[in-house]
Amino acid sequence: MKSQFLLDTTITYLNHGSFGACPKPIFDAFQRFQLELETDPTDFIVKRQPNYLKTARESLAKFVGCEAQDLFFTSNPTFAINVIMRNIKLNPGDEILSTNHEYGAMDRTWNFYCKKSGAKYIRQNISLPVTSKEQIIEEFWKGYNGNTKVVFLNQMSSATALIFPVKEICDRAKELGLITIIDGAHVPGHIDLNLTELNPDYYTGTLHKWMLAPKGSSFLYVKKEWQNDLEPLVVSWGYESVAPGESQFLDYHELQGTRDISAFLCTPNVVEFLEKNDWKTVSKNCKQIVLNNYQRFCDLLNTEPIAPITGEFLGQMASIPVNTNKPAELKNLLYNQYKIQVPVMSLNDGFYIRYSINAYNSQADLDRLYNALEEIISTTDLIKV
Ligand SMILES: Cc1ncc(COP(=O)(O)O)c(C=O)c1O
Repeated sequence: MKSQFLLDTTITYLNHGSFGACPKPIFDAFQRFQLELETDPTDFIVKRQPNYLKTARESLAKFVGCEAQDLFFTSNPTFAINVIMRNIKLNPGDEILSTNHEYGAMDRTWNFYCKKSGAKYIRQNISLPVTSKEQIIEEFWKGYNGNTKVVFLNQMSSATALIFPVKEICDRAKELGLITIIDGAHVPGHIDLNLTELNPDYYTGTLHKWMLAPKGSSFLYVKKEWQNDLEPLVVSWGYESVAPGESQFLDYHELQGTRDISAFLCTPNVVEFLEKNDWKTVSKNCKQIVLNNYQRFCDLLNTEPIAPITGEFLGQMASIPVNTNKPAELKNLLYNQYKIQVPVMSLNDGFYIRYSINAYNSQADLDRLYNALEEIISTTDLIKV
């Protein structure tokens, strides 16, 4: 599998989680769309692109378990969340119940809209180590009160790389009449997803991470009842359209002039690649490698696991707590001296070495990381054990 990817083979690449990595057959398909566009931009954009886009949307919808009319492509999840926030009418005193494990760009976007509206963003503490699903759910709902209007949380967190029980939280939120917004950036191609079953109000996911799509491909799913009122974040030709398409919802959000949407268009190639290569099995094997190594790294770093070491909480990436005062220096040393690309994440008061495992990795990559850390511990003061 390693030969199918474009990654520099002199680097031990353990950071799939941040930006993904695209295999050659998918990247070729992406470039074929760009080439086709450049050979006759007018015919491509006016005539062919709408059909390609519809096919891409249908293929994605099937993959994530919803109807093709209920989602549209965005460049990234932050764009998708901005669409929602622009539309949700927040009043002074309204509360958005979230967790203290969310992605920084999302925290910032909520802060921005809360400042404008007088609403409050509640980063409810989910304490570490997590001991069970029930503990997360119980701690989460302690943040609820009569002012809570929206529930927002990630299905898998970034810095702590933990899977959250979003189904249970969405179900309860619905009983309470709350709007549910799920950030599933790490989910498609990684953790089973069926949007019809999950039934959130809004859900964003990334294709360019675990689905292996080229960069700049994500989506926003919107439950039917919110679609008609959803204003576009960027107003363009789809507003007051002279040639209305399938729905106002898709016109408003999909049509944006001459931007290059080749990354969206190659979604059928992405899905075909995943199916042809039995990605469920590939992913299962990667998850096993992640689990097999977690305790070993904790022992080396003299820290405790942040959750039970099981598939209920961990996927193809895991965050090991590390005692360091110099996270940037540690990350740079791992890259510059050992040629290991691995992030040292920071969240709340903690630091974490987060390794990701994909088809192009093997146990040898984690052994290299282990040996490098062992040497760093014995030769520098960057890590305290
Ligand atoms: C939990 C989470 N949400 C969202 C994102 C996507 O971020 P962006 O919109 O900056 O691409 C990421 C990326 O790592 C993430 O980990």
